[in-house]
Amino acid sequence: MSERGFISTLTSMTWRVWLSRAPGPRPREVDALGDVAGLRLVHLQCHLGLETLQFAQAGARVTGLDFSPAAIRAAQDLAERSGLSDRARFVCADVYDAVGALEAQTFDVVYVSAGSLCWLPSVERWAEQVAALASPGGRFYLHEKHPVEWALADDQPVFTHPYFEEPDPYVEDSESTYTDSARGLVNRRNYQWNHGIGEIVTALVRHGLQLDWLLEHDWAVRQVFSWLVTDDGERWTTPAGMPRIPLSFALLAHRPTNGHRDAAKPNP
Ligand SMILES: C[S@@+](CC[C@H](N)C(=O)[O-])C[C@H]1O[C@@H](n2cnc3c(N)ncnc32)[C@H](O)[C@@H]1O
Repeated sequence: MSERGFISTLTSMTWRVWLSRAPGPRPREVDALGDVAGLRLVHLQCHLGLETLQFAQAGARVTGLDFSPAAIRAAQDLAERSGLSDRARFVCADVYDAVGALEAQTFDVVYVSAGSLCWLPSVERWAEQVAALASPGGRFYLHEKHPVEWALADDQPVFTHPYFEEPDPYVEDSESTYTDSARGLVNRRNYQWNHGIGEIVTALVRHGLQLDWLLEHDWAVRQVFSWLVTDDGERWTTPAGMPRIPLSFALLAHRPTNGHRDAAKPNP
């Protein structure tokens, strides 16, 4: 994603609306994580910090991390405007260097949300950072696009991209980003990678997390394909008569309190 994408978002963002709504975490996040008041939470690839600050609204002490200086500046600005800067900080760093950038601090909750994994070439290196950031007993929550959704063609439900992680990225030139589709981009080239569900879960387990649950959803949070339909504008699904397919997923994992355990090696 380019700097231009962030800057255009900043100029069009309805700050006042967001501030007046002062939303907390989404219901599905409250169901998964319960009361986060007083907990230390780190949000990886936090973008403009909106989701990060929703947890601050709920009383968590939050750290957002992203490698875009423009996004981090916007997040810091929003934290100040919303009176949350006493319990929100934002750090500009590559997620692959998160442990070092956060000086080996650990957290009660590690949080990652939709649109994050596709920018990363290696889910293994990502999982190493995620697991090391969770304190003993700490939890990891992820809600992401499903790798099946990522692998489908835009115009029909057939596979046109790899389901599994590949060494070479999928390269695409985009006119706009999801943040502000009306505005054009200066830097249009995107490099993306898919990661299969098994690759994601196994990488997390290999680095010491234990899986609590994994849910595959038949809905997406946006109309990622023109053929998806919605009843409420929040969840987009396949139309009646078409088989349900996984469009997003969520998982909860935790670091055991007895420290880093040796994960079983999966069969090749
Ligand atoms: C699509 S956004 C995440 C969206 C977020 N869920 C939201 O709704 O705001 C992906 C973010 O990942 C960040 N990013 C991509 N690669 C990264 C990396 N290697 N290290 C840190 N941040 C990265 C981008 O700067 C961008 O802010």
